[in-house]
Amino acid sequence: MRTTVNDIRERKQKGEKITMLTCYDYSTAKLLEEAGIDFILVGDSLGTVVLGYDTTLPVTMDVMIHHAKAVVRGTSKALVVGDMPFMTYHTSTEDCLRNAARFLQEAGCQAIKLEGGVTVADKVKRCIECGIPVMGHIGLTPQSVNAFGGHKLQGKTKEAAARLVQDAIALDQAGAFAIVLETIPAALGTLITQKVNCPTIGIGAGPGCDGQVQVINDMLGSFTDFVPRHAKQYAHLATIIKDAASQYDKEVKSGAFPTAKNSFAMDESLLEGLK
Ligand code: KIV
Repeated sequence: MRTTVNDIRERKQKGEKITMLTCYDYSTAKLLEEAGIDFILVGDSLGTVVLGYDTTLPVTMDVMIHHAKAVVRGTSKALVVGDMPFMTYHTSTEDCLRNAARFLQEAGCQAIKLEGGVTVADKVKRCIECGIPVMGHIGLTPQSVNAFGGHKLQGKTKEAAARLVQDAIALDQAGAFAIVLETIPAALGTLITQKVNCPTIGIGAGPGCDGQVQVINDMLGSFTDFVPRHAKQYAHLATIIKDAASQYDKEVKSGAFPTAKNSFAMDESLLEGLK
């Protein structure tokens, strides 16, 4: 039985912290589930950390579905959330529903996430009415990077903080099962967490949130272009991968690899006449 959105909601009522990580492929998804991570986000951050774009904006629905399918195949218990890419839910409620449904029908996800607050609340409500659970995302919403003028801390002024509180309440009232709070002051993260019924999942929003999410490549230390301040590296895979690849390079070039152990034998008399 997979974790459900109700299980995630109940965690807040019980005062239990919630863990989410992003994931984009089958083998990593299996490991995250075995590690006990509560739920997995197939984030459009794959645009930057997997595909090498500067922003998440070039990511398409087809790319997201491709990766979401792989993550779902790697899990049997985790709740998997598909992230709606830029401009796949803004144009109309109909477009939003059609694209959101693809995550459930084609990829096998159990929920979707979209960015925005008051302005998308009607679409969130409609998705939920159609049986598509929705996770909200406010604060530093990377799809608005051009409007923000960069990846900057949000909610710094009284007005901006008040707008984010209103956004969170609108998503909560629309029925979102959880809300990502990204790159906002910790005190604001705590305040929003107290104001809404659904769990808040923070990334750079302080310890007062109901749960935390990290981009997997940041926490594993495999993405080296930049390390966001909110990220903690629990491993440094970049060094491990580079050391392993360099050792392989040396061994192939010196003839140390492959050995008989990595090769397949045959009755060599069968090769007579072929030489
Ligand atoms: O795409 C993503 O990885 C996200 C997380 C940062 C929440 O939206």
